[in-house]
Amino acid sequence: MSSDTVRQRRGFGNTAPESQQQPTQEQPDQQPSGGSKPTGTKRSLTIAIGGVLTLLGVASYTFLRQPSSAVDPVGVVATPEPTAVQLMTALESVATKRGEAKKKLEGLSRTERREEAKKLDVLTDLEVTAVLRAKEKSWEALGGALQVDTNQVSSNDPIEDYLASCDLRSSAGTAEGGGRLMVGVFDGHAGYRCAEQLAQRMGPMVDAALASIAEGTKAESPALSKAVVRLNRDAGHDWDQVPMALTAAFMAMDNELVHESLKQFRKLNDVEKMDELLGPAVAGSCGLVAVVDRAAGEVVVANTGDSRALLGVRLKNGTWKAVRLSEDHTAKNKAELARLARDHPGETVIRHGRVLGGLMPTRAFGDCRYKWPLDVQKALFPTLLSRGHRYATTPNDYASPPYVTAHPVIVRHRLGPQDKFIVVASDGLYDQMSDADIVNTVAGWYETRGVKGATEDANAATHLVRAALETDSLGRRSKGYIQQLLAIPPPLSRRFRDDISVAIVTLNDHADETAEKIKSE
Ligand SMILES: *[C@@H]1O[C@H](CO)[C@@H](O)[C@H](O)[C@H]1NC(C)=O
Repeated sequence: MSSDTVRQRRGFGNTAPESQQQPTQEQPDQQPSGGSKPTGTKRSLTIAIGGVLTLLGVASYTFLRQPSSAVDPVGVVATPEPTAVQLMTALESVATKRGEAKKKLEGLSRTERREEAKKLDVLTDLEVTAVLRAKEKSWEALGGALQVDTNQVSSNDPIEDYLASCDLRSSAGTAEGGGRLMVGVFDGHAGYRCAEQLAQRMGPMVDAALASIAEGTKAESPALSKAVVRLNRDAGHDWDQVPMALTAAFMAMDNELVHESLKQFRKLNDVEKMDELLGPAVAGSCGLVAVVDRAAGEVVVANTGDSRALLGVRLKNGTWKAVRLSEDHTAKNKAELARLARDHPGETVIRHGRVLGGLMPTRAFGDCRYKWPLDVQKALFPTLLSRGHRYATTPNDYASPPYVTAHPVIVRHRLGPQDKFIVVASDGLYDQMSDADIVNTVAGWYETRGVKGATEDANAATHLVRAALETDSLGRRSKGYIQQLLAIPPPLSRRFRDDISVAIVTLNDHADETAEKIKSE
């Protein structure tokens, strides 16, 4: 177990010592077998792959970290756009290649696996594009006021990241100047079950919270109505609707997942219902929801965990700035350390950089092993464990639960004409790229959008994910890198990259004639 708290960037070029690499958010510190704790093989792999690529003469160029003023260079597209059929066929050949790779890796020792990973068939350009575009989506929201581009590239199988978005019904609809768009990213850990529930239920929950707060009516969900009453009592009536609704929805969702489900299970007392009712509570998830409120001219971000929202701002002189709209909740956040010390006096809550030595984020949904009272854990964990819920274990020195909260931190930002887009993404993206690189990369798309062939990908999220996966841990960017990276099958892939989920909301209200100008030139 590492004593280092730093979330290491994954990649072949990772120069961190083996013991520091922590590829999963939830790492029970007392799994009897030690589980499948990965140890890094990256450094030597980097050198080896670097060598192989050099031998093969694979082109790679040094991508110098650019100052935040620079814009991502516009790529020149050499090949014609692949057809849908070509992409589908390529995706099948990726599955075949990864299947063969998996067979080669099966039953090998860690060292042998590392050797074998170097010799895997790399993907072709077309296959890379097929993987990158398999889940991309793009649409206009709020009557064209916003454009939304989303994408996901998985590393876990099944993926543990979920994206959700919707127009909030309880707002002024999509009438002129009105409307609210919600975009959420839910990065699961200890399985996908908690994140899946959040993605399905958070939109309706935020809607119900807004309706209840605006109309002063009782919400249908008892957990939600309790949360609204509590927030009203704590905060008085001068709290604006969207921040309050988001906070209430987060609290209610976690209450339903962790406590209401437990009540229901105890009432039914049917062990067959255990997986369905308690599975999402044993798993966990970060959650970040951004609401673009058009009438109010602002964006409100609620965050629990280590996903992140960024604002792309274009300054008057044409350079770009990345502004964070959320704070990461990890042991690197001093305010979080102070909060935990205050709530658990005399205890060492953060051990090895994780909550009770296990959980990377300091706030999360689910994760009942940090929330349920000890007697509940003692009563239920043996059965849950025997049914395959391997995270149903009590952390060491479990003295004063709950240790983890889903209570979000809210950030509000009044949108001005210089604010051009919002990036919402799971930490899989931020592992690969700095905030400034992310904003500059999306800026490269923004300034040329609508111009056919100006960027390799028409979808802003795809453009960004491609750049992220082409960039190694030393900031060098190459096609050879992504070809190798995406060839590695799960679960080995998880040592090199995390699931990545990205939603980019372009503020069309604040668009100017840049794209038009470029088009007409
Ligand atoms: C553009 O403006 C920003 C802020 O005003 C400044 O920090 C930056 O250096 C300027 N960049 C250039 C290239 O002039």
